[in-house]
Amino acid sequence: MNKIVYLDNSATTRCLDDVVVAMSDALQNCYGNPSSMHSMGLEAERLLKTSRKTIAEALRVGEHEIFFTSGGTEANNWAIWGSAYQRKGRGRHVITTGIEHASVLKSFQRLAEDGFKVSFLQVNEEGIVDERQLEDILTNESIFISIMSVNNETGTIQSISKLVKIIRSKTPNALIHVDAIQCFGKIEIYPRELDVDLLSISAHKIHGPKGIGALYIRKGVLIKPFLIGGEQEACYRAGTENVPGIVGLGAAVAAAKKELTANKKKLELLKERIINGLSEVGGAHINGPVNAQQAAPHIVNMWFEGIHRGEVLLHSLEVEGIYVSTGSACHSRREEASHVLKELGLTGEAFTGAIRVSLSHLNQEEEIDYFLHKLKEVVSELRELAG
Ligand SMILES: Cc1ncc(COP(=O)(O)O)c(C=O)c1O
Repeated sequence: MNKIVYLDNSATTRCLDDVVVAMSDALQNCYGNPSSMHSMGLEAERLLKTSRKTIAEALRVGEHEIFFTSGGTEANNWAIWGSAYQRKGRGRHVITTGIEHASVLKSFQRLAEDGFKVSFLQVNEEGIVDERQLEDILTNESIFISIMSVNNETGTIQSISKLVKIIRSKTPNALIHVDAIQCFGKIEIYPRELDVDLLSISAHKIHGPKGIGALYIRKGVLIKPFLIGGEQEACYRAGTENVPGIVGLGAAVAAAKKELTANKKKLELLKERIINGLSEVGGAHINGPVNAQQAAPHIVNMWFEGIHRGEVLLHSLEVEGIYVSTGSACHSRREEASHVLKELGLTGEAFTGAIRVSLSHLNQEEEIDYFLHKLKEVVSELRELAG
């Protein structure tokens, strides 16, 4: 069968045509090094400036607060290590949640190995951070907190502004980082309005290229550089800039910003269609937020009574041309159950049998109907096989 219904958009997305055109123009016609003094260098530097301005406008921050990185992972690693090592003289307590992406969790693990005291905030069964626990563990020693705005497996939206208020009232000197990689370009997020110091974004989650992202660093906030050996990015992030990638990121951000409201509406309708359609499948359940205010419009984590292994369902759907995932892309090749679902306290089929459907505004209603139709067939076949 030739039909392809791609419902794994939280893993990555297809590049928009405008992104591909802008990138190939940069690759072919603007290959100067932005650090070169001649006109070809200046032309490449102009492309960086344009993209930086687009991103700054989308986040409603200053251009000089945007630093390009090799993607979301580097932005997260840099924000965490850069902040912790910069501020270690003021205290050694750092805080995150148990449901973060591996690029955050592993960075904190490294900090723990280096003698930092790491606290992991617990979440409830919807994936929402325990505010009281946060209030209780903050001390004068707390120097850095990292909390994701939208979870990549369940779509849980955190109330970042509420959490920031708690942090600022107890430890005004701590730096606050938000991993906004699953949020930016889909739901409005503005670091200044949230009063956060650092925020990570990634291009390939919003129909841009892979291997490019950015870190917002609030003006006046100092963190240690991560990549050294060059004066790029105001001496903060060394290495010749990925000009085509940066152009692609800018084009993707421009498109996302322009269509944010319309795209969000479309995602909400597609998600609603899935949720309504699940009742037809029978014995279907959703993991994660129940309250729509706390649920991202593009992610649905689901499980089915009688289906024990999510990967079996995933591959059965793949045979029908439908692409979903069992969780985070960076773990899904491993036989390891999701740390996120575990943190939510899920057990049994809800834990081992879950699949994640993640949407793009490019998905069509017919694709959702096809998915639901095939899902019903596949689930009933698997249930029969399981007896
Ligand atoms: C929440 C979250 N943070 C970080 C990342 C890593 O981003 P990248 O793939 O650009 O390195 C991802 C990607 O899956 C993500 O979903």
